[in-house]
Amino acid sequence: MSALTSFNAPMRVALFGASGGIGAALLDLFAANERVGAIYAGARSSVSAETPKVTPFHFDLTREHTIADAAAYMSEGGPLDLVLVTTGVLHEVSMQPEKTWREFNADSFAHAFAVNATGPALIAKHMLPSLARDRKTVFAALSARVGSIEDNRLGGWASYRASKAALHQIVRTCAIELARHRKEAVCIALHPGTVDTDLSKPFQRGVAAEKLFTPTFCAERLLAVIDGLTPAESGNAFAWDGVRIPF
Ligand SMILES: NC(=O)c1ccc[n+]([C@@H]2O[C@H](COP(=O)([O-])OP(=O)(O)OC[C@H]3O[C@@H](n4cnc5c(N)ncnc54)[C@H](OP(=O)(O)O)[C@@H]3O)[C@@H](O)[C@H]2O)c1
Repeated sequence: MSALTSFNAPMRVALFGASGGIGAALLDLFAANERVGAIYAGARSSVSAETPKVTPFHFDLTREHTIADAAAYMSEGGPLDLVLVTTGVLHEVSMQPEKTWREFNADSFAHAFAVNATGPALIAKHMLPSLARDRKTVFAALSARVGSIEDNRLGGWASYRASKAALHQIVRTCAIELARHRKEAVCIALHPGTVDTDLSKPFQRGVAAEKLFTPTFCAERLLAVIDGLTPAESGNAFAWDGVRIPF
């Protein structure tokens, strides 16, 4: 388990997406880590808090006022060390990743952008001001390797890819602005690998067993990457193994 020793203890952490496969695994790791003093765990639904360190909160990415309310509540407790966004959408009943441009659909594009790009941007808007100014802090949003334009050799999944590419641009933009006032802050996107969650379930056929990660393994790797980051790496995307992904 990553010790998170690059952060000042006790850490204060905000997790947007605690109900997801990867988000829930991260929440468990934070709860078990003695260096973490307080965890705000956000979801659309309720999150069960098994330790007094965890304070659940409600938010919906498509309703900005819920993010603003949560941010105002958290700021009352003092500055934060780590803000993690683990939300995302790839498929829903009325939305499937496109195999070809013939399947492009305005509603699917709008929803993918609302959840994968605009939502994390609004979280940045309301949460970046709460990052501590005098020590290492990190804002990290889960993205996907398929959001890399340079890495796109297969095509398909256009709305998901495009929304994650937009997230990369948002992360770069916020990182530049953040560096002006918080010299020790890091703002990045993270690719978790292929992880056994509801999001990847329909697409796991053909994935070699050793390349399909458990949420716990993925969460441990992501925290190790976050722990090793410095401000010089801000504004970029990194995979679960710490290797930088080209935008
Ligand atoms: N799993 C993989 O193989 C994989 C690979 C590459 C990238 N990723 C990325 O990793 C991240 C997490 O994925 P996951 O595998 O953990 O997926 P997941 O289990 O399906 O979790 C998705 C999360 O997003 C939340 N969410 C969706 N729409 C929301 C909204 N409008 N407001 C608030 N929360 C919302 C869900 O909340 P509810 O519980 O309320 O629905 C859930 O917490 C995503 O960004 C995904 O793109 C995953």
